[in-house]
Amino acid sequence: MQSDIVEKIDSKKLRGGYYTPQPIAEFICRWAITKPTQKVLEPSCGDGNFIEAAIKRFLQLGVPKNKLFGLLKGIELVAREAEESKRRAASYGLNSTTIINSDFFSYISNANGDGHYDVVIGNPPFIRYQNFPEEHRKKAFEMMEEIGLTPNKLTNIWVPFLVLSANSLNKNGKLGMVIPAELFQVKYAAQTRIFLAKFFSRITIVTFTKLVFQNIQQEVVLLLCEKDVSDNPGIRVVELSSLEELEKLNISTIQKSAVKSLEHNSEKWTKYFLEEYEIHLLRKIKTDPRIKLASDIMDVDVGLVTGRNEFFMINEDTAAMWKIKPYTQKVVGKSNHFKGIIFKEDDFDSNAEASFDGYLFLPPAKDFEDLPKACKDYIKYGEEQNFHTGYKCRIRKRWYITPSLWTPDAFVLRQVGDYPKVIINKTDACSTDTIHRVRFKRKIEPELLALSFLNSLTFAFSEITGRSYGGGVLTFEPTEIEELPLPILKENNINFKKIDNLIRQRKISEVLDIVDEELLIKQLKLRRSDVQRLRAIWKKLSDRRLNRSKN
Ligand SMILES: C[S@@+](CC[C@H](N)C(=O)[O-])C[C@H]1O[C@@H](n2cnc3c(N)ncnc32)[C@H](O)[C@@H]1O
Repeated sequence: MQSDIVEKIDSKKLRGGYYTPQPIAEFICRWAITKPTQKVLEPSCGDGNFIEAAIKRFLQLGVPKNKLFGLLKGIELVAREAEESKRRAASYGLNSTTIINSDFFSYISNANGDGHYDVVIGNPPFIRYQNFPEEHRKKAFEMMEEIGLTPNKLTNIWVPFLVLSANSLNKNGKLGMVIPAELFQVKYAAQTRIFLAKFFSRITIVTFTKLVFQNIQQEVVLLLCEKDVSDNPGIRVVELSSLEELEKLNISTIQKSAVKSLEHNSEKWTKYFLEEYEIHLLRKIKTDPRIKLASDIMDVDVGLVTGRNEFFMINEDTAAMWKIKPYTQKVVGKSNHFKGIIFKEDDFDSNAEASFDGYLFLPPAKDFEDLPKACKDYIKYGEEQNFHTGYKCRIRKRWYITPSLWTPDAFVLRQVGDYPKVIINKTDACSTDTIHRVRFKRKIEPELLALSFLNSLTFAFSEITGRSYGGGVLTFEPTEIEELPLPILKENNINFKKIDNLIRQRKISEVLDIVDEELLIKQLKLRRSDVQRLRAIWKKLSDRRLNRSKN
């Protein structure tokens, strides 16, 4: 193993090294290790929390200390950590071959006949593709390809750890791992979701309503997978509020609890937080030919990228001070600049009065020498601050000209706290990349579109289509907005001004009552009970998401 690679990786962040709290390691061992003869693998054992928990579990199952040998194998890349694991194993009489100081991928590719286990436990590292050392990545990716997977530049290292250690399981094997909750939602894990759904016959996921790792905002789940079970196959999600609850959890109660059928598709797993009848309702709606996706009516695109907001985005005072107001363009850069579902000149002005940075510096598209003096002065100031050397600015023909300046028909927020909305643009303002830009694909009354968006059906899907990590915010890429089912009001029977005011007063339930009645019940003729279910789905998923931010 090259020491420079290890050195590079040997910082907590780079090696994705946040160790598992003991109650979690103990729980996973209690769940996974049920027989005194099981052969156990820990593919990235760090300083040995899982190793010690597994040893204790074997002792509990009646394995005498002198019979522990050969039951456990721990792999760890960083020598110092491996040493600590060895020391802990040795304190129970296990000799040094229990822990191997190696890259996991090299280890299993050379393991030959020794590569099969009854149980895999652990908490794989979380390292992005670009920090994932080439030597390890190449092996990992080759092995993934051998089993029919196609990793790419977005693949995080925990993915090959998960699938390749799963692949080393025996017929009735079990895998219990701490995995980033993004397994549920991210696109790069879509193939992993399908792999798991096909490879295992039962999957149990334990989630926490509060974040359980103290040092990181990364949300994790406990992924408990069983290969060949004859009874109760499927998937279930068990939600717990704390580690104390985990310690008290009765494994046989979980094993008997109901499962939902496991679909072999790439859809996000967020839906498994729902009851089976709720999942069915969403599926039925998805196949209703009357309900089109948002992409039928709108194109969603990212906002403009200034390359340096600090320089390009300015307020009235700065514009006046540098005498560059004539060389600015109105831009919205923050979600809270939108209070309602329509954005008018008054809204822009009241934001500007509050000293928001609502102007983009945009000199004429000319060479520096030909620019007005005020622009030259401001650009020179920017260069003194080295703003022109940042990547986005550096690659432009003229670093001070922000490209892609088009005024959208409407805006959609990229990140939302409570719910997504379409905001009609009645100004000539553009937006930065914190806010998506919308172009209508065909002629539509903008008010009808903005109103239509505010319904329980679209909201329910938004919680499944959007992604949330740890902090409670829901994030949408443009395509994730376009993928939302969006029924459209045919007639304007709703008082737009009233709804806009209710939104400004944050009275979303009242708004949903009005729009649901008109759009879902009167127009689409959905059953009232189904509409209530859709509202409950939205509430359940959004409350769950928001609760996690209240630590
Ligand atoms: C998130 S920590 C978890 C450690 C331990 N499993 C636990 O739960 O306490 C991940 C560990 O993976 C190790 N690691 C990183 N890359 C590795 C590789 N290619 N092979 C083996 N171990 C690796 C890191 O050094 C780190 O100790």
